[in-house]
Amino acid sequence: MTDLSYYSQLIHNKKDSYNYRLLHNFEFISSTKIKKNNRLLTSFCSNDYLGLSFNKNVIRAAKNAISKYGAGSASSRFVCGNLSLYKILEQDIANYMNCDDSIIFSSGYITAIGVIPALVGKNDIIIADKLIHSCLIDAAILSQAKLLRFNHNDIVHCQKLLDQNRDKYNKCLIITESVFSMDGDLGDIKQLHKLSNTYNSLLLIDYAHDIDMNDKIIADNIIKMGTLSKSIANLGGFIAANNIIIDYLRNYSKSLIYSTALPPSILAGSVKALEIIRQNNLQKKLYKNITLFCSLTNINNAKSAIIPIIVKDSLKALNIAKLFEEKGYLLSAIRPPTVAKNSARLRITINVNHMKKDIINVANLIKEFC
Ligand SMILES: Cc1ncc(COP(=O)(O)O)c(C=O)c1O
Repeated sequence: MTDLSYYSQLIHNKKDSYNYRLLHNFEFISSTKIKKNNRLLTSFCSNDYLGLSFNKNVIRAAKNAISKYGAGSASSRFVCGNLSLYKILEQDIANYMNCDDSIIFSSGYITAIGVIPALVGKNDIIIADKLIHSCLIDAAILSQAKLLRFNHNDIVHCQKLLDQNRDKYNKCLIITESVFSMDGDLGDIKQLHKLSNTYNSLLLIDYAHDIDMNDKIIADNIIKMGTLSKSIANLGGFIAANNIIIDYLRNYSKSLIYSTALPPSILAGSVKALEIIRQNNLQKKLYKNITLFCSLTNINNAKSAIIPIIVKDSLKALNIAKLFEEKGYLLSAIRPPTVAKNSARLRITINVNHMKKDIINVANLIKEFC
């Protein structure tokens, strides 16, 4: 018999530290209403910030694409899976991100895993913000480049690492996020871009949680990563950059080449969602909700739809989330290793479709429970 005690011990460790993860059964009713184990709750934890997952035009576009092109995509993009919808969506994303071109992958995670090891390797260096997402770290490790981390948003520390190390390596990739996924604050893209120019480096910015995404920063050494799974309310990831980078990634990203293409429904749904984002100022309404929530909770005006309430202790975070659930609200308790030890938190996300009364209720409950 194989001895599985190593694995069971690690499961016990998770339970002992209140960091064990359980999968619950969820059913979406709308972009803000969700059933958890059959109980109806109002969600304050979804990344569908602009509420497009239930938009009737997005749903219709996805349904029509299934009827017209089928449910699956049958092969890698390089065999016969490269539906013409890809070209439309990649052009739309490139325009939206103010870049020459873009390339779509099957998820944001798969984008990082395919792109970073293609851009840098053994004799290169990656200098990354301490709080970047797990997929970026995994991708950096996979690349075999030397990986150094600078303190969160600490430009002086980043420069120091560049000063001490840049000369020893061939290529250099700096990595940050435009909106940090667990803190909701913004990366200092302007300053990092200056550093990337001074130190002859590429700069990869992950826009996964950015509700605007279309900042005007453009340069040959900037690589913009994003996802179709949050504001765009579907599934997939992308890189937008200049022509050479995109052409290179098309040829050298293994997770693009050796994985099945996205299904037509996802591509058509994403095209429609992006069209709606570009034509309607949904962000303006979302910022109104964010401002209301911040003013009620005395939180300095948040820079994004992500608002962390840090309670430090994992058990405390779980217990508070449970209290919210009893009142009809679903909030996520984020615990290590997703966040650093002793920084467990409630990660509240504001949605464009939240009702004023729910924002007020949650703000009041925060004052009561936290
Ligand atoms: C900052 C960041 N980048 C990338 C990803 C991965 O994107 P996806 O969920 O599309 O795989 C996430 C997912 O939560 C994220 O928070």
